[in-house]
Amino acid sequence: MTRKLVLDVDTGTDDAVAIMFAALHPELELLGVTTVNGNVPVTNTTDNTLRVLDWIGRSEIPVYRGLSRPLARNGSPGPRHYERDGKADPHGLALDIPEPRSSAADTGAVEFLVETLRAVTDPLTLVAVGPLSNIATALAIDPGLTESVEELVIMGGGHAVTNVTASAEFNIWGDPEAAAVVFSAGFGRLTLVPLDATHRALITRESVNALGSLGTPAGTACARFIGKRIEAYTAMLPGTDAAPVHDVVCTASLVRPELITTEHIPVQVETASPLTIGRTVMDRRPHTPDEPNAHVAFDADAALLTELLLETFG
Ligand code: BDR
Ligand code: CA
Repeated sequence: MTRKLVLDVDTGTDDAVAIMFAALHPELELLGVTTVNGNVPVTNTTDNTLRVLDWIGRSEIPVYRGLSRPLARNGSPGPRHYERDGKADPHGLALDIPEPRSSAADTGAVEFLVETLRAVTDPLTLVAVGPLSNIATALAIDPGLTESVEELVIMGGGHAVTNVTASAEFNIWGDPEAAAVVFSAGFGRLTLVPLDATHRALITRESVNALGSLGTPAGTACARFIGKRIEAYTAMLPGTDAAPVHDVVCTASLVRPELITTEHIPVQVETASPLTIGRTVMDRRPHTPDEPNAHVAFDADAALLTELLLETFG
């Protein structure tokens, strides 16, 4: 039995690895990919997604273009924040593989999500690894869609580790109002993979070389994308020679749940304070009065992730 999923992405080097994993792992059936503004504008996240699927020979998986801006904030959430902050960019505007031959579907991402989730007989898995604008908009159209989702897995947020600001992680900060809607929507099972976990599962330069040696399209692309990430992280922290590949921790954990170690706790998103906007407030107090709404990963197994990448892309 394969696990059916829909993937919502802002492709990006790490989204690209997550897509390849979902499209190629024999236990997963990727029904469609929805794109959103994030790492780069939605035109580019869509173009990059199509590039990836064409490159690995899975062009038949449909791609649906989604929101070009966050719900409540004007303009872009700041996809080029690496430049603005003077940091090395682990993504670039266009992925370093050939331009796409295929095109996005005529149907938009939100329409696809609403129609697909309304039509399912067995609840499916939804994995969101970019800002949550598409999912929140679909919920605004039909809040009952939560019933059609067996599990929502989100890459986002951070407790002890943040990136875009001292308080926040990029995906949640990119559309905090959307994230607040999603976290309070009442999904039956919501798994959150924050930076605390993804930074525990670094992929090393040595593993990148091994991925490149596989000689497959996915292995070659994966080595190129993670290699770019390692260069960016090493420029920030000399001597690192490894990088997190955040988004693939989500898709890989679908087939090997032991990849991540979770705690079931209450999580809320800050949408008001200028200093802490986009913070995922995780309540780890043993006697919290609030109901838990998320299974939050605080650890991930680097060796297992590496093994899964080599196995799947080989
Ligand atoms: C998240 O932000 C994006 O840059 C990555 O693709 C990942 O989804 C990490 O903060
Ligand atoms: Ca992403």
